Formats: sequence, C-alpha cells, structure tokens
Amino acid sequence: MKISLSPATPEAWSGSVLALGIPKDDPQDLVAAMERRFDLQLSAWLKQKPFTGKSGDLASLQLLRSDCTALVLVGLGDAAEVDRNSLRKAAAAAARAANGQSGSLALHLPWGSEDPAGDAIAAAEAVRLSLYSDLRFRSKPEPKPCPDQLELLGQWPAGIDGALAAIQPVCAGVELARELVAAPPNSVTPSELANTAEALAKDHGLELKVLERSDCEAKGMGSFLSVCQGSDMDPKFIHLTYRPSDAVHKRLVLVGKGLTFDSGGYNLKVGAAQIDMMKFDMGGSAAVFGAMRAIAELQPAGVEVHMLVASCENMINGSAVHPGDIVTASNGTTIEINNTDAEGRLTLADALVYASELKPDAIVDLATLTGACVVALGDEIAGLWSGDDGLSEALESAASNAGEGLWRMPLHSSYRKGLKSLLADMKNTGPRPGGSITAALFLKEFVEAGIPWAHIDIAGTVWTDKGRDLNPSGATGYGVRTLVNWVLSQASTAAA
Ligand code: BES
Ligand code: MN
Ligand code: ZN
Repeated sequence: MKISLSPATPEAWSGSVLALGIPKDDPQDLVAAMERRFDLQLSAWLKQKPFTGKSGDLASLQLLRSDCTALVLVGLGDAAEVDRNSLRKAAAAAARAANGQSGSLALHLPWGSEDPAGDAIAAAEAVRLSLYSDLRFRSKPEPKPCPDQLELLGQWPAGIDGALAAIQPVCAGVELARELVAAPPNSVTPSELANTAEALAKDHGLELKVLERSDCEAKGMGSFLSVCQGSDMDPKFIHLTYRPSDAVHKRLVLVGKGLTFDSGGYNLKVGAAQIDMMKFDMGGSAAVFGAMRAIAELQPAGVEVHMLVASCENMINGSAVHPGDIVTASNGTTIEINNTDAEGRLTLADALVYASELKPDAIVDLATLTGACVVALGDEIAGLWSGDDGLSEALESAASNAGEGLWRMPLHSSYRKGLKSLLADMKNTGPRPGGSITAALFLKEFVEAGIPWAHIDIAGTVWTDKGRDLNPSGATGYGVRTLVNWVLSQASTAAA
C-alpha cells in the first residue's frame, strides 16, 4: 500500500473512498461541507441512522454521479478527548469500511498539533494492518479488492515525510509475525522458523547462527532439550544479529518463546485448555522475528540487536520427558519438571543463559507463557515483569506509543518459595495462584544478576478470535511495534 501526506481538503480531494473523522456534534461542520460537495441530504440521513459522531459510530455510502466512489464517516467522540488511540481506532474503522473497494483511500482526521507525524504514523499503520488478510491456505484464493493507496489529508508541517519512512518496515514486521503465528503447526515447524531466519539474514544483511541439537547438547542445554525429547522434529536454536554500521553503544537481546506446538506433554492439554490453538505458542518468536525484520530495514544507529529463539515442539512419545524428571540447564541449575506443560520456561531458561553470555545492556523476552496471564489481563493487555524500573518505563512508553496494551505486574520474590523442590535446585511449576508471577521468577533465575531484564507474557494478546481495532480476527502480531519502538528509543539515546 502506497502511503502519502496530502494538503488536499476533503472538499477538494477526489479518488475512490473519502473517509472523515467526525467529532461529536461536528464543530467543524464537515457534514455540511460534504452535503454541499456531493449534493446530498446527508444530515437528514445521519439523523435517521442515527450517527451522532460518538466513538464507534460509522456511516458509509456509495456515491453515484461523483468523482469519489464512497464516503465514510467515522465517529470520534468528544472533540476535546480525541487522542492518538482514538485516531488509530478511527483509521481502522475507516479502513474496514473501505475494504472491498479498490483505488485510493483518503483519511481526514484531527491530527494533533504537538506531534502530527506521530499521529500520521499511527493512522497509516492502523489502515494497512486493518486491511491485512491471509489467503495462503485457501485452495482458490479470492482476494477482495481493497484500497492500494492511502492519502492522509491535512495541513502538514514541512519536512515530516521522513518520519513516515518507518511505517512500511514496521507493518511488514507485524505481518510477518501474523503469518508465522497463523500458519498451522504442520507448516511452521522449528526447521521452518530456521528457514525464515535464513531468508531474513539473506534479504536484510543480518548475521545468522543456528545451533542444531548436537550444538545445544555441547552447550549443556538440558532444560531446552528436555522439551523436545518426545518430538520427531529437530530443535533449532536460532540466533540472528543486527549490527549497526557505526560504533556500538548498546547491545540489546530479544528472546522469543518458539514452541511451534504445545500439546502439554504428558501433562496433556485436555478439556478447556484449547490444545488446538497451541500453534500460536511460537508467538513470542514471531514477534521478535517481525521486530528484527523491521530493525534490519530501519538500520538504527549505535545499537546491536540480537534475537534468540530456542524453537521446538512439546509432544509425546516413548522418549518424552516424564513428569518428575530432573534436568540440568546450561548454567548448571537442576530443574525438577513437575509439570511438562510448563515447557516454555524450560526453553527460555537456556536461551536466557545464552543471552546473558552476550553481556548485553538489556534482555527482553516475549512468550505465550501462562494461561494465568490471560485470566489476569484478558486479550488486550500483555503482562510485564521486570526488576528494572528504567527498562520497565522504557517498554511501557514504547507500548503506549505503539498503542499496544502492556501492564507491569509484580515480580514478588517471596513467591519464589513456590518453586522449591525436594531434590533439585528448583521445580518448573509453582502453585496455581500467582502462576504468571512464579513463571517470571523461574525465568529470572537464568538471567545473570545485574543485567536489566524484562519478561512480557503475550498469552492473551497473541490472538483475537473476534478481531478488534487494527487487528482482523486471528493472529495479531502483538509486540512487534512495541519492540521496534523500544529499540529505536535506545538508538536515539545510544550516542548520548
Ligand atoms: N503455552 C501455554 C500457555 C498458554 C495457555 C498460552 C493458554 C495461551 C493460552 C504454556 O506452555 C502452558 O501450558 N502453561 C501452563 C503452565 C502451568 C502448567 C503452570 C498454563 O498456563 O496452564
Ligand atoms: Mn504448555
Ligand atoms: Zn506453551
């Protein structure tokens, strides 16, 4: 989709779909202007709908005998309360209404005066991401027509076009993440993730190292390898690196949980556990893949970014791990596996040890780690656990910029006792209450003390059944935009 800024007014623009944000009680009289422009009895029709401009209101009509094909009005709510998120929602609603029409889409919204470029980016991302559809698995793909050109109408200050350059790489990253998550587990396997990494490395000049099973054995990754003992698929430990062309001021590590399928193992997922959705258990890895794709294109200065994914499947056969097995992670910690379904943390443990050995300035992991996080925060907000206030604030601000829900949760060390094992250094699973907290505390054991680390549980946000805002039903690509925002924020301060 081609995206541009245009100084045209709604009265003068001509193209396919003209979409206008209308605040409650329309102080700008846009409706009256459109009435004149298209010679319509618009206000009478809107009264009847009823459309008052409140948030969620939408009116769309086909125009005959005009130089535009359709007019879309999106309610913005109280003019005084319009913020970046309401612009995002309005842009997404306009895009959904324009879906099905080809040609150009114009979007006219009340762009904020303090950061119009930020508003433009938010709206453009929302449009492109709302129009995403996935026909890869249809035998006869029948793509619907959809606008291939977006014009943002407004009185733009000079010189902000450069800021828009990030939109396409970031959206491509989100779309890559969505594709990886949505693809079934017989298509996205650990080897396929490694192939994706190889293609990213080749196309975008990243450095790639893939550790095979024997390499992981040599490194003593007994925790990671225990998870795939019952699977016919080889594990892949994937390490992608972005190196800036200038001096490195900060080294960051992004770690993603990469379970291409989680059956639960001998603690098999039964009943309401939704085993059929456990293809999305590589959502953390999809997010870091998507972020790396964007970062590789945006080439931030001064930051070196590493991506680590310990990918495998959690399956059952005669070699599968027994509930009760004791394994040893690569830092020497012994773990009693009292629940084979708490497998994500076992894979992350060895990835976090490896991450720590890179001596980074920060480590952030993303994982569909616990059902308890979904119970706590639902599907619009991911949980953030970190002992580092600076890193937490930077991530919260990156998420807020990106419009992705993120809420800091307690990393309450007293719950660590829930992981005490009679025989080994620790168990992999604590009691059900506070299950997301003990999961985070388990991970913390594998991060070298002193390295700022944050864990983001995306079990709820990785997927939406019904679709919401800029996410059509299915995989959301959650996390890509937050991670890219965060990495870019580190780049701009890196030289300071
Ligand atoms: N992949 C699941 C977490 C999950 C559950 C994600 C539901 C999305 C929706 C994870 O591996 C898991 O099974 N966690 C267990 C942990 C428990 C055994 C301590 C859980 O949450 O039930
Ligand atoms: Mn599990
Ligand atoms: Zn899992």
